[in-house]
Amino acid sequence: MVVGTPFLTVEQIQNKNRELADRISADYRGKNLLAVGILKGAFIFFSDLVRLIRVPLMIDFIIASSYLKAETSGEIKLHYSVREEIADRDILLIEDIVDTGITLNYLRERILNEQPRSLRICTFLDKKERREVDVPIDYVGFEIPNKFVVGYGLDYDNKYRNLPYISVFKKTA
Ligand code: IMP
Ligand code: MG
Repeated sequence: MVVGTPFLTVEQIQNKNRELADRISADYRGKNLLAVGILKGAFIFFSDLVRLIRVPLMIDFIIASSYLKAETSGEIKLHYSVREEIADRDILLIEDIVDTGITLNYLRERILNEQPRSLRICTFLDKKERREVDVPIDYVGFEIPNKFVVGYGLDYDNKYRNLPYISVFKKTA
């Protein structure tokens, strides 16, 4: 596991978060924003982002898992879902990374079933070339190549989430 060279530095991450929060703040003026973080991966991005958003909001979380080690299982387990009222709210789903799109597509359909006033999606990272299901994404931090990354909330086997930057994960023999 090489952690010496960040793929995305703390400074790049902070700058991007400011940029995203500015756009979100402008778009959600006068709305009824409910920011929904997808755990566990998005916990750090979510908490950084909401602190930079300058319009009133409420928060909730979804706890979902779809990954076994570094391989996607394609099967999503929902451990906790939104308890806040969704109808008539402007929902912003906040995700760490979109890979195949299977997780987000599933969660998006579930939320849409409860008829929010609007639903948008924000992801910190987008591995676009891996997409299998087409999900509309409104706010993207960084598009990244098909590499497995850890840090800034992202894990391998639930480890490395506490790295303050994003690093490319390499298995050591
Ligand atoms: P998807 O359903 O294939 O889009 O997978 C999305 C989920 O897989 C994300 O929420 C992450 O938890 C996980 N994931 C995908 N790529 C990576 C990666 O490079 N590092 C860590 N987790 C990843
Ligand atoms: Mg995730």
